[in-house]
Amino acid sequence: MSSIDSVLTETRVFPPSDAFRLQANVSGLEAYHTLCEQANNDYEGFWGQLAREQLSWHKPFTQVLDERNPPFYRWFGDGELNVSYNCLDRHLPLLANKLAIIFESDNGTVTRVTYAELYRRVCQFANGLKSLGITKGDRVVIYMPMSIEAVVAMQGCARIGAIHSVVFGGFSSKSLQERIIDAKARLVVTANEGVRGGKLVPLKATVDEALAAGGCDSVERVVVYKRAVHEDGPWQIGRDIWWHDLVKGKPEHCEPTWVNAEDPLFILYTSGSTGKPKGVQHSSAGYLLGAINTMRWTFDYKPADIFWCTADVGWITGHSYVAYGPLAVGATQLIFEGVPTYPDAGRFWQMIEQHKVTTFYTAPTAIRSLIKLGGDLPAQYDLSSLRLLGTVGEPINPEAWVWYHEKVGGGRCPIVDTWWQTETGSHMITPLPGAVATKPGSCTLPLPGIQADIVDEAGFPVENGKGGFLVIKRPFPSQVRTLWNDPERFKKAYFPEEYNGKYYLAGDSAHRDEQGYFWIMGRIDDVLNVSGHRLGTMEIESALVANPLVAEAAVVGKPHEIKGESIVAFVVLKGPRPSGDEARQIIANLREWVGSEIGALAKPDEIRFGDNLPKTRSGKIMRRLLRAIAKGEEITQDVSTLENPAILQQLQESV
Ligand code: WT7
Repeated sequence: MSSIDSVLTETRVFPPSDAFRLQANVSGLEAYHTLCEQANNDYEGFWGQLAREQLSWHKPFTQVLDERNPPFYRWFGDGELNVSYNCLDRHLPLLANKLAIIFESDNGTVTRVTYAELYRRVCQFANGLKSLGITKGDRVVIYMPMSIEAVVAMQGCARIGAIHSVVFGGFSSKSLQERIIDAKARLVVTANEGVRGGKLVPLKATVDEALAAGGCDSVERVVVYKRAVHEDGPWQIGRDIWWHDLVKGKPEHCEPTWVNAEDPLFILYTSGSTGKPKGVQHSSAGYLLGAINTMRWTFDYKPADIFWCTADVGWITGHSYVAYGPLAVGATQLIFEGVPTYPDAGRFWQMIEQHKVTTFYTAPTAIRSLIKLGGDLPAQYDLSSLRLLGTVGEPINPEAWVWYHEKVGGGRCPIVDTWWQTETGSHMITPLPGAVATKPGSCTLPLPGIQADIVDEAGFPVENGKGGFLVIKRPFPSQVRTLWNDPERFKKAYFPEEYNGKYYLAGDSAHRDEQGYFWIMGRIDDVLNVSGHRLGTMEIESALVANPLVAEAAVVGKPHEIKGESIVAFVVLKGPRPSGDEARQIIANLREWVGSEIGALAKPDEIRFGDNLPKTRSGKIMRRLLRAIAKGEEITQDVSTLENPAILQQLQESV
């Protein structure tokens, strides 16, 4: 485990201010410890009480946790509820006229929607879905830009018990097609176009391409929201239907379909160690409880807040902290269509000032790029409405943390560095801002009821300061229930035999300091974290070898100042190893190729050619060597087991 021992030596500590602590939902460290003790002493009692207090049930549950069939745990398993009811209907008596969503488009146009109006829109859309024959358990793929409609589509599915699978709008038609096929979707909801940073994103055209590529026979209809700025593309009569036509004249009420607590709310595909994305399946009740608890605990939610999570609804962060969490607690939230750097790197700060945002949640990669493009820009805006800042997606480097704290938070806002995953559904390890002192770069302590630990290969806790595998030792309500269509992979990927199938293995390495604070060090599998996006090296390799020119490819990550990690591909062509202009041309083509196979986010930053790849005599690619070469490090490892040591020098030369 020595290879993952940490070298971080950050020692600054930022305790919550008295002012923040006194008003906090969880006020002071003792209150945090009390909650943890309650959870430890009576695990089911703790979660059961929260589920009764925080969720509105149609039929109350009588059993909290069912562990009879590990690792397929069931929570609140005989209860019935509806997630959309919990996000909308239950607020109407008191909050009908409260703003639910403030939407700002790419070019700055602002649209505001109250809870009553959102309720009507969701009901009309849900009735529209019903009119297309969509019913409980059907899968609906959503391929939408950031918009009020994206949230309406997700909530509309939840209302009738349909299972949505949102695919990020930056994914290619091929990735979209794969996900449609795996989910056997009956319906695709999209927009004619998206607009980001002044550029059009051809969403409907990409859906057309995905469906034309074959295998998508399950899809009956395509609903198209008109975001539109320019001419409409081809239209398939009988299949395609405009969103506005679908909802026209539909009743503004739609009785929620009551579902079992364990019925799936959604599937969200994410990258793993193999080439095939995993369909992470989440429950209804346990998932929503996680989103609500963390709105209150981590984000210290107060009714007067203006909450802004900048994540796209195509990722889990946009599910839990855009589409569900904020609505479930009755918050007013800001949703943004565009990008942080358009028209300039002051956009976020300008929007915080304009909308008086109180709670701001974004990714370290965004912070780093905004520091680089305009580190002094926050000073030009009035950011005094802010009271809490958050980060998610990757470790934040202490310099960026301190900049965020001082320049954006004015030194007064706690920063919650939230460690969690697509699979955990909601925050797992993060400071409670009014209770836990923060340290730049540490996600601090587990939330109450989350039994996180760091263990060695045999499952024994490692001592403080030593690196190990991050695990969660007991099931928790918002965790992934299974992988869609693949329960075997679910077991194998997350509940390894080494831990008797009991611990949830997160796939991250971490260590703890002397105060028990967690420091995340990185993935232990072949998953990269590029600008907070999770990408499997195998996916990129499969995309590369699908190109007719390519014989073999190996992909590794390399530390990157802004993106966290960048993608380096080592490629063996079928023809001779190219050089000069020819090599440059092939690199450009291969980058485009990967963009069209997976999506622009997966394009390699660097491609190097060799006559071969460094392999052991048994044919295994030595990735550790490739990582060293990518970083430009001198190779000090023993290379005597290599089949072909001469290849190393070739790969060290970039084009
Ligand atoms: C992986 C999960 C959770 C929403 C966004 C990403 C890394 C996430 C942190 C953090 C250090 C983090 C981990 C994790 N990660 N948050 N605060 N500090 N690392 O979700 O795509 O499922 O990726 O992101 O490596 O395993 P995801």
